Amino acid sequence: MTVEIMRKYLQGLPEQFGDILQMKIKIPPKYRRDYHNIVVSGLGGSAIGGDILRTYATQQASIPVVVNRDYDLPAFAGSQTLVLAVSYSGNTEETISAYQQARWQGADIIVVSSGGKLSALAREDGYMVVEVPGGLSPRAATGYLFSPLALILDQLGIISGARADLMETQQVLSNLRAEINPDINADRNLARQLAVAMKNRIPVIWGSSSHSEVAALRWKAQINENAKAPAYYNVFPELNHNEIVGFEAPGDLLAQLLIIILRDPGDHERVKQRIEISRAIIKERVAQVMEVEARGKSFLARFYSLAYIGDYASYYLAVEYGINPTPVKVIDYLKAELAKK
Ligand code: F6R
Repeated sequence: MTVEIMRKYLQGLPEQFGDILQMKIKIPPKYRRDYHNIVVSGLGGSAIGGDILRTYATQQASIPVVVNRDYDLPAFAGSQTLVLAVSYSGNTEETISAYQQARWQGADIIVVSSGGKLSALAREDGYMVVEVPGGLSPRAATGYLFSPLALILDQLGIISGARADLMETQQVLSNLRAEINPDINADRNLARQLAVAMKNRIPVIWGSSSHSEVAALRWKAQINENAKAPAYYNVFPELNHNEIVGFEAPGDLLAQLLIIILRDPGDHERVKQRIEISRAIIKERVAQVMEVEARGKSFLARFYSLAYIGDYASYYLAVEYGINPTPVKVIDYLKAELAKK
């Protein structure tokens, strides 16, 4: 059955963290320098690891981590920059272009990939390549793609505690898997309940800056790619300054929306109050408002717990729609058309 492939990928996510921890990633001495900034360059499922890293590092690093989703690198990237070029396939043209630009601008580069042109180029040019296990859809390989980034920053002394946090993440996800996997009936399976609620509605996912923002982005992208359905996301407190005004729209329009709020125990007290007030404003106008709570202690475990529930919910939504969650024909078509030009 076609849904089996994504189902297997989802089931394997917790172990990806352990696999990378066992790889014993070792950074060559030439990278042991005082960088002024870190740029993670990638697209789609390979870029989101950069967003997780940016948010994770915000809480402890003294230098900024910036995510680049473009052909070009920011002008500030130079000899004091470490560029982490991430592409699961190793063949994404924007990432290859950013890699070339990083070379011209004199940055240090580390590539994270399962192979492809990017790995070959980096080896030829004498840069470090972290080769992660291949054969998955990039978005299903998030543990493989993110964990090396955290371990690299940890080894460089930019952050600390990454190993312990990745271990906790594996544990929290494997406990969660026992509750939301396809063997668990809908009455006890939160991810299935979310999928049923999302069916024939437009999901709008709300996170909170620096806590669940990236999880909200991940939910949106997974609903798009797995269930082939529209979904949108925004974050508190920003959405209180614009999006919330749109809930004055005519009732029929708003009746299509399902609002899902991703909650994190670390949320700012004022954000918690904003969530309550916002719920009251929109409650009667939208189809439904649901909330999902993060699990675990570390930021990483909490992020991935929210993401994993969204991963499964988007998978169940694909099943509800009778769609194969794995192929992303439109992305493949776009890449093929561009390759001809
Ligand atoms: C597909 C997916 C996409 C890719 C993106 C970049 O599962 O999630 O968003 O991640 O097209 O490709 P890679 O990751 O190979 O650089």
